Amino acid sequence: MVDSMAIDADWQSIINEIGQEIQPYQSAGKVADYIPELENVKKEAFGMSVVFIDGREFSFGDSDVNFSVQSISKVYSLTKAFSFLKDELWKRVGKEPSGNPFNSLIQLEHENGKPRNPFINAGAIVVADCVVSNANQPLNDTIDFVREISGNKNIAINEDMFLSEKHFGHRNAALAHFMKSYGNIESDVEAVLNYYFGHCSLSMNCRDVAQSFLFLANHGRHPYNNQEYLTASQAKRMNSLLLTCGTYDAAGDFAFRVGMPGKSGVGGGIAAIIPGLLSICVWSPGLDKYGNSLAGAKALELFTTKTGISIF
Ligand code: DON
Repeated sequence: MVDSMAIDADWQSIINEIGQEIQPYQSAGKVADYIPELENVKKEAFGMSVVFIDGREFSFGDSDVNFSVQSISKVYSLTKAFSFLKDELWKRVGKEPSGNPFNSLIQLEHENGKPRNPFINAGAIVVADCVVSNANQPLNDTIDFVREISGNKNIAINEDMFLSEKHFGHRNAALAHFMKSYGNIESDVEAVLNYYFGHCSLSMNCRDVAQSFLFLANHGRHPYNNQEYLTASQAKRMNSLLLTCGTYDAAGDFAFRVGMPGKSGVGGGIAAIIPGLLSICVWSPGLDKYGNSLAGAKALELFTTKTGISIF
């Protein structure tokens, strides 16, 4: 719900207050350590950017420091796949919360190679396959798209991150081959994984990510360039999926505490939106046991608590 009083709040003061109150949480949590590129970040870092549909922007802390967006990028690939395949997409990937870790293999066998939703790794790999099978230059097109929606033409993939993801990505490779055995991956598995690891390795800062989500806060049309990236109906579906599946098996707790559709990544970023108003990105590398930024989720909880603005 958007209270008209709150829209004119002193946003910078609220964000500064959150930045102060979040400090005890910044050293909590555990930095992702499955590859050295993720492990070698300052755990205490914290950044936050809030951008409005009307063009206002407010930031705090390490908001201009680049981090690895990881699973946040699944929103970019899903936007691409959704615009290619429309509702055909849902024949190949489900729309239900998984209730299992994001990289689980077990559920996939029970459900005959059809992933529960597009945000668990298996689902994002099917989405990657849809993009690889339909785009001219899958990764370059996606990078161009991300540059356009974030308004930053310098956004790029961190090559070391990409190579490490690829080198240590055995579980993702297993998921891809397993789904190929069910006929749910059309393209060459290596090409699909290269695309998936590529978009996960995008390096961006809080402001970039917040701005890149603004089209989802504005019914699929980016307010800064007036371009329609998803129809209003597709944007509604994307946001519903973000609310129910965007933070994995912690999505219920996240919705309960924060009350915004959001997407997390193991790099410590979380992007979230209030339809019709704004998008936010928070970043702090210490993760909770589900793989979501601990201080980041707390900061978003403080944001909706202090402002009284959430989707409910
Ligand atoms: O596929 C992986 O395991 C990583 N590249 C992305 C995982 C991720 O960010 C899950 N998020 N919380």
